[in-house]
Amino acid sequence: MNTLMDNASRRYGAWVSTLVAVLLGWAPPALAASSVERGKALVEFNCSGCHAVGRTDKSSHPDAPAFRTLSKRYPVADLEEALAEGISTGHPDMPEWVASPDQIEAIIAYISSLQQP
Ligand code: HEC
Repeated sequence: MNTLMDNASRRYGAWVSTLVAVLLGWAPPALAASSVERGKALVEFNCSGCHAVGRTDKSSHPDAPAFRTLSKRYPVADLEEALAEGISTGHPDMPEWVASPDQIEAIIAYISSLQQP
C-alpha cells in the first residue's frame, strides 16, 4: 500500500516539475507564435470562403472586407465581442459561428498581425 502511494506521488512530482520547466522555459515564445498560426488556420477554415484572409488575396464575396483592412474601420480588438456573440450582424450569408475564448484570442492575434500600417 505504502509503496504504491510512494510510486504514485513520485511520478506525480516528476510530472509537475516537467510542467513547471515547460512553463518557465520555452513555452511563452512558442505560445505567442502558435496563437497567430492557430488563428490563421481558423480563419482559413471558417472565413476564407468569403473574406480575403491573407496579405494579398482578394475576398471571394464581393461585400466581405479583406481582413488585413479591418483596422481601418475599427480597432481589431473590437472583434472579440462580435466573435464571442457569434458573428451575425452584417453577415446575412454567414452561418452563425460562436468561437471559444481560445479561438477568439488566436483569431485576433492573427488578424492583428496582418494589419497594414
Ligand atoms: C458566407 C460568407 C462569409 C463568411 C464565411 C464570413 N463572412 Fe464576414 N462578412 C461577410 C460579408 C458579406 C460582410 C460584409 C457585410 C456588410 O458590410 O454588409 C462581412 C463582414 C465582416 C466583418 C466586418 C463587419 C463590419 O461591420 O465592418 C467582419 C469583422 C467579419 N465579416 C468577420 C468574419 C469572420 C471573423 C469570419 C470567420 C469566422 C467571417 N467573417 C466569415 C461574409 C462572410
